[in-house]
Amino acid sequence: MRIGLPKEVKTEEYRVALTPDKVAELVRSGHTVLVEKGAGEGSGFADSAYHEAGARLVPTPADVFAEADLVVKVKEPQPQEYELLRRRQVLFTYLHLAAYPDVAHALLRSGVIAIAYETVQLPDGQLPLLIPMSEIAGRMAPLIGAYYLQRPLGGKGRLMPGTPGTRSAHVVVIGAGTAGTNAARIASAMGARVTLLDRNQERLRQAEASIPGRLTTLFSTYATIGESVAQADVVVGAVLVPGARAPKVVTREMVESMARGSVIIDISVDQGGCVETTRRTTHASPVYTVNGVIHYAVDNMPGAYPQTASIALSNAVFPYLLRLATLGIPRALQEDPTLAKGVNTYQGRVTYPAVAQALGLPYTPLAEAIASLG
Ligand SMILES: NC(=O)c1ccc[n+]([C@@H]2O[C@H](COP(=O)([O-])OP(=O)(O)OC[C@H]3O[C@@H](n4cnc5c(N)ncnc54)[C@H](O)[C@@H]3O)[C@@H](O)[C@H]2O)c1
Repeated sequence: MRIGLPKEVKTEEYRVALTPDKVAELVRSGHTVLVEKGAGEGSGFADSAYHEAGARLVPTPADVFAEADLVVKVKEPQPQEYELLRRRQVLFTYLHLAAYPDVAHALLRSGVIAIAYETVQLPDGQLPLLIPMSEIAGRMAPLIGAYYLQRPLGGKGRLMPGTPGTRSAHVVVIGAGTAGTNAARIASAMGARVTLLDRNQERLRQAEASIPGRLTTLFSTYATIGESVAQADVVVGAVLVPGARAPKVVTREMVESMARGSVIIDISVDQGGCVETTRRTTHASPVYTVNGVIHYAVDNMPGAYPQTASIALSNAVFPYLLRLATLGIPRALQEDPTLAKGVNTYQGRVTYPAVAQALGLPYTPLAEAIASLG
């Protein structure tokens, strides 16, 4: 199979989906890998490393998209990439279509087979291609919260770990999944008091057993979220309903109940955000203020640490990519239910129920789409 690796074009996005060692593995397995010049530069991987791995370096994104049977990326296609997509070409990347209707329509128009990293799902419900980025975003959140609590940046001026005789910061984390537990773990390690909320008792139980420090776990309801948020110095939003828009668990009134100079980090922004006052921001301009409360809502947080993120993403993506390339499409999708769950659009049809529902579009089961379109 011809696999294409373009350079990311989203604002301040420096990650790359495949590191040179994974490219070498694909080439060793008999596949051709086309890499756009400069694709790995932002993560510290030089063109020469891809060349040595056996990749064919090409000068433009158009060269990658025109030749590749499968394009592997990091973020959803940007407008300048829409017209490069081709019917029956496979696009393997983060998509978050419920939050990006324009992207969904572009994919449907193009007729690509779009496999979203975030909906590739193991039989036990885990999301193996979301986990590494959620781990990074979760670990970043307390660092960002601690940074923006500084008074000169508009924060309330409370040092996250406090000092002997002073209060440490109170960090409230909503969602005890991968991002949330990683946020709670780092916040706790930084000396904060941490409250972690979820509706899944088992997740709370696991968090309590594994996170040392001053951790309180609460079953998530409108009331417990409201009480916790009102007392928080830092709120981390990390809820997820796979494929769907995030529920707005923090209302505008709750934000208004927070002290000025508090910080909200809405990690769930890539699914539309779980805080009513959230609007998407970028690394170039990451924060804004509502009622004196600082909001951070960057939808590609791990892009800030591309070295770590590219290696973690490439490690996670590689086994699935190899299966797709080796078995071919649609056999890989028919034989591997984990990968099949990732298919969001198939040659013009929406094949993921939550995405169809969120966008108000008709849903076609994948097996039906494959049977009728091949
Ligand atoms: N902004 C970024 O750069 C970035 C990076 C990585 C992940 N994310 C996003 O972070 C979010 C969380 O990802 P994850 O991997 O941790 O997901 P996850 O599935 O591991 O965890 C989500 C948790 O939310 C809980 N939840 C659902 N509804 C809830 C509610 N009403 N109240 C409390 N908890 C609720 C679930 O029970 C689950 O434990 C996703 O939207 C993901 O796309 C964003």
